[in-house]
Amino acid sequence: MSNRTFTMIKPDAFSKGHSGAIIDQIVKDGFRIVALKLTKLSREKAGEFYEVHKERPFYGELVDFMSSGPIIAAILEKGNAVADFRKLIGATDPAKADAGTIRKLYAASLGENAIHGSDSDENAKIEGDFFFSGLERY
Ligand code: RTP
Ligand code: MG
Repeated sequence: MSNRTFTMIKPDAFSKGHSGAIIDQIVKDGFRIVALKLTKLSREKAGEFYEVHKERPFYGELVDFMSSGPIIAAILEKGNAVADFRKLIGATDPAKADAGTIRKLYAASLGENAIHGSDSDENAKIEGDFFFSGLERY
């Protein structure tokens, strides 16, 4: 069990102006912000980030969506960070997400589901390193 996870506020939630409320909910849930940036993924970079899903039918749509507008990337710290954060964001499909979770509150569909959360300690490290240098973490 590691104490860090990685997240992105996806283009849908960013463009609808939900970033402030989402960050507030994350911090109130006990996560400390280790690193934070506003950026926009190129198609190529989005494809690289979601490379594990390359063979899935939704890969093209996912890459188009994730490169369609700005995102906010962050590394977060808390005991049991990966599992606790997945609980806070809710199920991948917002229709199946528990009440009060970030996806239930802000996501419109399975494809455009407001926020990303790492699914393992190993991927949290890989994904954090994808976006942040050592100098960008505190
Ligand atoms: P994420 O990686 O973004 O945190 O989401 P997740 O772990 O809950 O779900 P994952 O299986 O990793 O899928 C990555 C993203 O692909 C989109 N997706 N679309 N149309 C579909 O059937 C479908 N399935 C997944 C979602 O945006 C999901 O977050
Ligand atoms: Mg995932």
